Amino acid sequence: MKNIVLIGMMGSGKSSVGKRLAHNLDRPFVDTDSLIEQRESRSIPEIFELYGENYFRKLERDIVREISESDNLVIATGGGIVINSENVHNLKQRGEVFYLRNGIDALEKRLSENTEGRPLLNGQELRATLEKLLEKRESLYIESADRVIDNDDLEATVNLIKRLVNEEMEESS
Ligand code: S3P
Repeated sequence: MKNIVLIGMMGSGKSSVGKRLAHNLDRPFVDTDSLIEQRESRSIPEIFELYGENYFRKLERDIVREISESDNLVIATGGGIVINSENVHNLKQRGEVFYLRNGIDALEKRLSENTEGRPLLNGQELRATLEKLLEKRESLYIESADRVIDNDDLEATVNLIKRLVNEEMEESS
């Protein structure tokens, strides 16, 4: 079965949705940020601080290359995965890509409770930073996605993706 790939901004709930989906569909769950942390034995903020964003993006690219060889996974990606078109190309090889779309208000609300672990937000004015990132990335998310999911409620998002994936499986069988 094709991978289910979740893309979207920081704070869009990719990991929470992904874990629940994987559990419900009985599939393995992977998270690109966690794989990077495991490989480096360092947290994402440490990697940014010690080696910089470009280094992190290379690690991200390598991890995407590797996991794109598998199938049947539920994959939560880092918010910047779409910056590199190679990542999108690789993820789409064996995956269906879902953009979890949220407006600025919802992202700000979720992230204001916790920006820790997100070096691009640290010490920055949250709303202005999110606006800038979303402006740069929104079109990339939309172009990269097979489906855009308006992600107002995590549980509803999980159920919708589950239904879409099951429908597609029935159609192809
Ligand atoms: C980033 C998002 C983070 C993480 C890194 C960079 C981004 O992942 O990959 O801090 O560029 O948007 P989450 O989207 O899981 O927070």
